[in-house]
Amino acid sequence: MMTEDKTATMSNRPVVTIKLATTSDELLQCYMLRAAVFMGEQHCPYWEEFDGNDYTASHLMLYVDGEPAASMRVRWFASFAKLERAIILKRYRSFGLFIPFVDWAREFCRKKGYSKAYLHAQHRLWPIFERMGFRKVDDRVFHFSDHEYGAFVCDLDVDEKTMPTVFTDPMVLNRPEDRLEMPGILEDSMERGASNPHAEWTERRAATHIIAYVGDEPAGTLRVRWFQSFAMPERLAVIQRFRGHNIGQLLLERARKLAESRGCNMLYAQVLPADVKYWEKQGWRRLVAEDASSGDKRIVAVVRAVDPSKPLPEVEAPESVVLRREGQLDATGLPLGTASN
Ligand SMILES: CC(C)(COP(=O)(O)OP(=O)(O)OC[C@H]1O[C@@H](n2cnc3c(N)ncnc32)[C@H](O)[C@@H]1OP(=O)(O)O)[C@@H](O)C(=O)NCCC(=O)NCCS
Repeated sequence: MMTEDKTATMSNRPVVTIKLATTSDELLQCYMLRAAVFMGEQHCPYWEEFDGNDYTASHLMLYVDGEPAASMRVRWFASFAKLERAIILKRYRSFGLFIPFVDWAREFCRKKGYSKAYLHAQHRLWPIFERMGFRKVDDRVFHFSDHEYGAFVCDLDVDEKTMPTVFTDPMVLNRPEDRLEMPGILEDSMERGASNPHAEWTERRAATHIIAYVGDEPAGTLRVRWFQSFAMPERLAVIQRFRGHNIGQLLLERARKLAESRGCNMLYAQVLPADVKYWEKQGWRRLVAEDASSGDKRIVAVVRAVDPSKPLPEVEAPESVVLRREGQLDATGLPLGTASN
């Protein structure tokens, strides 16, 4: 709906363009106009002019031969649109720009489906708004920022057939708001099809350290590292004099709960053969029935479901659970290379 006075290009008449402010440059122009008029002419304090509502509003700009000449702000309430901060820079006044500008704003609201335009008019401007078809909402006269105001409203003739609804073509609703009747840039993007690109959701991968205290005394620790499809508790240690009080079990249970809260399904650990029974008592099972590696320092991989009521996620190929040394992890903590985990 960008408006341009086309006939003007054929004559010496200036070209008037009205559009929705869509760039930060255009917003800057709008704020400068308002500063010049409201702060400069009408002595409005800065914090009252820039009142915190500029980023919830639409801003309309009027240009004369490309030069910012007028602006207006529209705020959107459920049952009406509120026109505000209408100004014309002093040197562009008395050229009859105001009424077409307000008409453009009303048309903009109407096309969005608003059946009412509402505004607070300074007392001296009441006659002009009445001439434009606005009527006073009631007899209240109120004042702010040193001016007396009355509330005005006017009905907009919304076309039930064309007004936007939830059944409107979704791509129409995606268009720039002041050009709802013209295909927008997102319609051009349809040519590319839908490849659904997205970044994988990744957990925070830094290790988590859990410490158990007896009174104020640290009694045991457990480190948990986070992988794509499992959490790995490791370095389980309880100080000798605190052993035999289920502190290890408590730490593992805390790790399980933490994994559950992070949406993790499986716990994986590497334990010494002598400790397997301890882990099995707590619901863990060997990843492979018999450990293949040999030697004194051999380790046994054990797993358990985070939620005991749900079966352990199928570990189809146990040998695919390959852990790398930290140096072989990428920046996000994922193993480098092809190992899946
Ligand atoms: C209000 C304002 C936007 C009007 O701009 P403008 O360029 O003078 O308006 P136009 O030339 O389009 O005039 C439109 C009509 O309004 C009338 N009008 C303009 N200013 C008026 C005023 N102060 N008092 C009464 N009527 C006024 C004009 O006479 C004209 O009527 P006409 O067609 O019968 O001659 C402009 O004066 C302005 O920016 N003022 C400072 C900001 C402001 O007060 N904004 C309103 C906040 S509610």
